[in-house]
Amino acid sequence: MVSRVIPVDDFDLVIFGGTGDLARRKILPGLYRRFVAGQMPAEARIIGAARSELDDEGYRQDVRDALKEFLAKADQSEEQIAAFLSRLHYVSIDARGEDGWKELNQLMRDGVVRAFYFSVAPALFGDLAERLHHHKIAGRDSRIVVEKPFGRDLESAKALNATLAEHFDETQIYRIDHYLGKETVQNLMVVRFANVLFEPLWNAQYVDHIQITVAETVGVGGRGSYYDKSGAMRDMVQNHLMQLLCLIAMEPPSRFDPDAVRDEKLKVIRALDPVDPADIVRGQYEAKGKANSYIDDVENDESRTESFIAMKLHVSNWRWAGTPFYIRTGKRLRARQSEIAVVFKDAPHSIFGAQAGRHRNILTIRLQPNDGMKLGVTIKEPGPGGMRLIDVPLDMTFADALGSDGEAVPEAYERLIMDVVRGNQTLFMRGDEVEAAWAWTDPIINGWQDRDDRPHEYEPGTAGPEEAAMLMHRENRRWRDIKE
Ligand code: NDP
Ligand code: BG6
Repeated sequence: MVSRVIPVDDFDLVIFGGTGDLARRKILPGLYRRFVAGQMPAEARIIGAARSELDDEGYRQDVRDALKEFLAKADQSEEQIAAFLSRLHYVSIDARGEDGWKELNQLMRDGVVRAFYFSVAPALFGDLAERLHHHKIAGRDSRIVVEKPFGRDLESAKALNATLAEHFDETQIYRIDHYLGKETVQNLMVVRFANVLFEPLWNAQYVDHIQITVAETVGVGGRGSYYDKSGAMRDMVQNHLMQLLCLIAMEPPSRFDPDAVRDEKLKVIRALDPVDPADIVRGQYEAKGKANSYIDDVENDESRTESFIAMKLHVSNWRWAGTPFYIRTGKRLRARQSEIAVVFKDAPHSIFGAQAGRHRNILTIRLQPNDGMKLGVTIKEPGPGGMRLIDVPLDMTFADALGSDGEAVPEAYERLIMDVVRGNQTLFMRGDEVEAAWAWTDPIINGWQDRDDRPHEYEPGTAGPEEAAMLMHRENRRWRDIKE
């Protein structure tokens, strides 16, 4: 595969929360990989900012440790790490205090892109926006990058949008949903809109149903206190799964530009029907007789938060009326597997008779691991014995098909940060999109609270609670396997 790295404009990137978990695990290793790929201009700088008292050298040492811990061994080169670290600076700043801002202002260069990554708790987003403005560090062409969660309901999301809008125009605000930076998620749009093959069939006339699965093997890890207040609905469905659903269901945008794409996604969210409680299954992992049940992980015996959710949704528009979308996501499941399956309807009439059997065409788009696509095609089983039909896959793992070793493909965070520097908002959520997603989510969550709803138990290492399988079985459908 030919690697075509297009350098971006010169930039100063300030990472508020530059010593935190996200910065150490994703943002800084991602920037290092872009540096090694030759995408960062020679003068570009990264400035870490947090309350800890560190100087540039101390910060560089901390980042060196993070790179050693979180980069693949093959990506680590002493020479490159040293060169990358020399781009790093550090300023000690309290988002809620007045110290440090003058020093930050003095460090920033004129005439280059200024980007400010808010990798701190959401409660500090407003403080940062206000102080950047007050100290005249951010101007009309600066950009801010805002991490999730963007609010915890419609009201708080609206309030946050309003606070940011006091100091920044919408064109300056980059709301991160890292799923949009995943290679195959972007490929969804290309597969749909650059091939004639699929789009004529991409509607309720030909599609029986669509399944979206984001299964994780990890539990809530060290983020128990955040997660227990969020659950799978707020943590995954309102953002990542909603974005996948939008890209699958939306109408073709007229152009691949930020507003054209986001307008179409917004229409999908607004077309979602309220969900019948009977079409939702919530689960919580419970390791029988062992430690590490969900309630141990979050240290809350009374918790009713879901670590798994499965739902049946309807997009009420001409394209999708009558085609259900089944979505599910959960932690501590059997395998890490994210995929979208488009299950087509049966051929209208079988000329081969009932004994030949019937198979449906299924297009599977794998996001991770081994991203790729598979199309199930029905053929004759070879050999004598009459017409027996079998299903064979046209299988394409992108790394094999493109001859890439997988390492050359930028990970979600690195791609998205480079898009910020380029000023391309296509893969970021617009304020009205986030609000529409909460407007759909809120009544569902409020309903659970009103009914005092309890999640079903499920054993770690399974596909979730039995009830989730029933959601499909009762309609003669079945989930695709979650396989190791
Ligand atoms: P951490 O708690 O690990 O890091 C928080 C960072 O903020 C530290 O650098 C901390 O440094 C700094 N900080 C805290 N208070 C202040 C303050 N008053 N002024 C300036 N800096 C401050 O959090 P994460 O890195 O995990 O999360 C950061 C953001 O990213 C959150 O919004 C989170 O929701 C989001 N996110 C995180 C993910 C993850 O996997 N970690 C995944 C998706 C989103 P110091 O104490 O020195 O000030
Ligand atoms: C984050 C969620 O946004 O996405 C986590 O907060 C989740 O709970 C993670 O584990 C999953 O991302 P990925 O890229 O590993 O599928």
